[in-house]
Amino acid sequence: MSHTAGLEYTPNVALATKHIYERVKDVIPDFEWPVHAPYVAEINRLKKERNAVILAHNYMTPEIFHGVADIVGDSLALARKASETDAEVIVLAGVHFMAETAKLLSPEKTVIMPDMKAGCSLASSITGADVRLLREKYPDVPVVTYVNTSAEVKAESDICCTSGNAVKIVESLGVDRVICLPDQYLARYIAGQTDVEVIYWEGSCEVHERFTGEELREYRQQFEKIVIVAHPECPQDVLEEADFVGSTANMINYVDDAQPERVLLVTECSMSDNVAVEHPNVNFIRPCNLCPHMKLITLPKIYEALINMSPTVEVSPIIAERAAITVEKMLAIK
Ligand code: 13P
Ligand code: SF4
Repeated sequence: MSHTAGLEYTPNVALATKHIYERVKDVIPDFEWPVHAPYVAEINRLKKERNAVILAHNYMTPEIFHGVADIVGDSLALARKASETDAEVIVLAGVHFMAETAKLLSPEKTVIMPDMKAGCSLASSITGADVRLLREKYPDVPVVTYVNTSAEVKAESDICCTSGNAVKIVESLGVDRVICLPDQYLARYIAGQTDVEVIYWEGSCEVHERFTGEELREYRQQFEKIVIVAHPECPQDVLEEADFVGSTANMINYVDDAQPERVLLVTECSMSDNVAVEHPNVNFIRPCNLCPHMKLITLPKIYEALINMSPTVEVSPIIAERAAITVEKMLAIK
């Protein structure tokens, strides 16, 4: 049932959200704000009433990222913060595997996912049965699994990693060979950063896979002094063209530190909007590849989810127990 009838852009709503609009006015046109503002005001009120926190991934749209999120970050930061929060309810503004990871780390909390259909092409590229087969083929080779996977796949693995800590996790195992699942490009990137031999799976991110080295060379020709920062889910020829490669949080840290005149973030396109808010002096060139899963999360869905306190993410206890160990092992490596 929809509860949106009373949501109007009144003078009170305009006043209550004025400070937020001031921050995002360069990335959200003024004619759009009256649509977002009533949700922003109501969600921020409901959060307190429900003792809820909103964890938002760096790919959320700016009205979510800057308007209602309590904690923002990459997958690693969201996993860490989910395990640390005192709130009873976590609303995960991101994709399903992120909400599932939060639930694994905080089984006693209510974890709400505003749209259960928000999946991930990497998570859907592999099953627990696939991992068992790989283990038969490569007995004694540890399985390092990207957090962009289901709890079932994590449960069959030895340890998790994110794009922010993958090389460190692989090297922490002290072995000559590892299996890295399921992103072939991240696995190849890791292999290039370490002496450990990496066996990989053929999964890929449908968003990052679309970038090409050719496209980046064209941007370099077109824009003087452009700095290219890429996510390790991109194909190898893209990473070869980049000045820096890192997780979404590390990409942001790079822009913070380097303060480039002009930058191209080779990743999902909402991130440039979010980072641009904090960096008015940096010129962001924006090739727009949207993640269709991330974009399923909207303010109206967050609002409805908080009203209904659903849908909630549940993981079967047998899977959850084993999957949580792999995430906790990862978090223990600082
Ligand atoms: P990060 O962990 O770098 O935020 O990446 C998550 C993701 O889904 C990238 O596509
Ligand atoms: Fe998955 Fe790619 Fe979307 Fe990230 S951007 S959630 S890896 S499909």
